[in-house]
Amino acid sequence: MTASLLVLNGPNLNLLGTRDPEAYGTASLDAIETELDASFSSVEFDFRQHNGEGALIDSLHDAHEQNRDGIVLNPGGYTHTSVALRDAVDAIAPPTVEVHLSNVHAREDFRRTSRIAPVCVGQVSGFGAAGYHMAVRYFLQWT
Ligand code: DQA
Repeated sequence: MTASLLVLNGPNLNLLGTRDPEAYGTASLDAIETELDASFSSVEFDFRQHNGEGALIDSLHDAHEQNRDGIVLNPGGYTHTSVALRDAVDAIAPPTVEVHLSNVHAREDFRRTSRIAPVCVGQVSGFGAAGYHMAVRYFLQWT
């Protein structure tokens, strides 16, 4: 294994595949996770998705306690609202890359602000499911 990563998806991302395919594509979350697994045989993945803020925070704490090498996080709508999620990302040791399927900067005004991005290594936005691959590559090549 070269890296142990948490891939954490937030609210409504369990509906990928049927939810607003123009914005988010047609791949299900399960398909995205299966493809990541197949593409990066050297990575040990912990895939999780929660709709609730508390469960997302608990998973971030778990990644810290399990000494994960990094976190790939799509916080969904909490991106734009959650101080508690931001504080959790800031409080833990594993570095986090924020991922969005859609280009949040080309959509409604309220999506242009991320409360999470300032405490992340960086943000990948607008590349669909490929964004998750880009984030994993960061951890393999530059950490
Ligand atoms: C999203 C963008 C968010 O604004 C939205 O609330 C989501 C999905 C994305 O992946 O593009 O749920 O995080």
